Amino acid sequence: MSKQATRVTVNGKPHARVVDARLTLADFLRHELGLTGTHLGCEHGVCGACTVLVDGRSTRACLMFAVQANGCEVTTVEGLTPDSGLSVLQQAFVDNHGLQCGFCTPGMLVTLTELLRDNADPSERSPAIFAAAPAMPALSRRRSTPRSACATDPGAERWAQNISARA
Ligand code: FES
Repeated sequence: MSKQATRVTVNGKPHARVVDARLTLADFLRHELGLTGTHLGCEHGVCGACTVLVDGRSTRACLMFAVQANGCEVTTVEGLTPDSGLSVLQQAFVDNHGLQCGFCTPGMLVTLTELLRDNADPSERSPAIFAAAPAMPALSRRRSTPRSACATDPGAERWAQNISARA
């Protein structure tokens, strides 16, 4: 398998590695850098659990090769977390019981970070909410989708309604 050099800045820290050309960004983050907050669920771009920010835009890390991120700035859920305690957004999830098993929560936090950065006052009717829906099933209103059991959680409704006011 061919190897390629890649330089990526992750959560503000530069990293240089020689990696297999077909190594995904998700596996690079988890196995090369030990950033296991990026989770892998479906591994084909549907569930959103692996979502990270690449140059500020939400990106499915399972669909991007690490070498494609060469020269990019990547932010993972670890990069959203303060040195001590929780961010406002993380605390809003806790306060509104928006976690359930927590497996896809990193992707939701990353997606919401972008959403709230770009939309100061999002509503359930906002196009941006629906654009973020794959990682935020509770906001998508598509309750029959098998994407996540969280979509059926009444608590998810509460955190969805409260997060924009808290973040
Ligand atoms: S693991 Fe990447 S979208 Fe599901």
